[in-house]
Parts: sequence; C-alpha cells; structure tokens
Amino acid sequence: MEHPIVVPAAPRYDPRIQRAREFDIPDIAALNNIFAPDGLTLIRTEAFVAAHLDGYLLMRDQNENLIGCVALDEYSPSLVELVSLAVAPAAQGQGLGKLLIEAACTLASRRGYPQIFAISLADQLFLDEGFVDSSIQHFPEKIARYKKISRSELSIGKKFCFVRTLSAG
Ligand SMILES: CC(C)(COP(=O)(O)OP(=O)(O)OC[C@H]1O[C@@H](n2cnc3c(N)ncnc32)[C@H](O)[C@@H]1OP(=O)(O)O)[C@@H](O)C(=O)NCCC(=O)NCCS
Repeated sequence: MEHPIVVPAAPRYDPRIQRAREFDIPDIAALNNIFAPDGLTLIRTEAFVAAHLDGYLLMRDQNENLIGCVALDEYSPSLVELVSLAVAPAAQGQGLGKLLIEAACTLASRRGYPQIFAISLADQLFLDEGFVDSSIQHFPEKIARYKKISRSELSIGKKFCFVRTLSAG
C-alpha cells in the first residue's frame, strides 16, 4: 500500500505584523469591542483608534480580514501602555497574541521607552512574554486619565498590572 503524500498545510495566517492605516479604523474598533461586554477589553471608539493610529499594529488572515490588533498608548516620553490586544475568536490559541505582544514591545523599544506596562486578565500570557507583576499604583498617570473619563473604567482593580523592561531598540 502506498503511503499518502503529506503536503504541509498552508499557513492560515500571515504572521507579518502591519502598521494600521486610516481605512482600518472601523475594523480595529469592531475587533477590539467584541470583548468589551466581558470586560476583557475597554471599549475603543473610532475616534480613540484614529488618535492612536500610529501606535496600532495589525495582523490579517489570507483574505486580508483583520484577525489581531494591539496598540501603544503613549502617555509621555517615558511611559507607554500596551492596549487593545485582541485576537479574533476563531484565530485564538495559535500564538498570534504572543506575536502581537512581542511586536508592540519591539515598537516601544524602538521609540525609546525603557519599559511598557499592561493591565489585563490574561496573566499567564503576559508572564510568558517577559512581563512581571506590578501595581497600578506605580502608574498614577493611568489612574488620573481614567478617573477623568469614567469611574467604571477604573474597575481595573480586578485586573492584573504587568510591566516589562525593554532593551534599547
Ligand atoms: C488574550 C488574547 C489576545 C490571546 O491571544 P491568542 O492568540 O489566543 O494567544 P496565543 O495563542 O499567542 O497564546 C496563548 C497562550 O496565552 C494564554 N492565554 C490566552 N488568553 C488568556 C487569558 N485570558 N488568560 C490567561 N492566559 C491566556 C493561553 O493559556 C496560551 O498559553 P499556552 O501557549 O501556554 O497554551 C486573546 O485570547 C483575546 O483576544 N482575548 C480577548 C481579549 C483580551 O483578553 N485581551 C487582552 C487585554 S490586554
């Protein structure tokens, strides 16, 4: 009996990370906001995405559909937060989230940030990516900003705060 010919499966995702462009704005907001009802992401309006477009990194599938995003929220020349990390449900569990975190850290490092912080329930994911436990109290700029917007967004008390030291980019 002949052995079957094994053809390597074509990769379902293009692991290249792309910068965001203006026409991506509605799709980015939609992907991020899928997870907002469960409190995993904060609602991001199209206006927020537009204002932070320069800090967004994207991943697409073979049909050019957006399947992953992450962004840098730059508070000051020395303080940056990793935000809007989201992978479409059908694409989760294949390493895309880790690639997006790595790409965000590389971009932050290239921009000269000494460290990057993140607030998330995905604790193991961040610990695996070189982040260590921290406290929101170390980032008063974050507390101040969200107090101005909405107290409910300060329900980050339930979430974990992580920080990663960046090497020079
Ligand atoms: C968190 C998220 C981005 C991870 O994306 P992903 O592509 O599935 O992640 P990866 O495949 O790269 O990594 C999966 C690893 O992360 C861990 N992980 C994923 N989501 C997690 C979560 N919510 N809590 C803890 N660990 C999590 C998995 O256990 C897995 O670990 P393993 O590699 O040891 O098996 C994705 O699940 C998602 O979009 N979730 C909803 C939005 C969200 O929670 N965003 C984070 C806000 S900062």
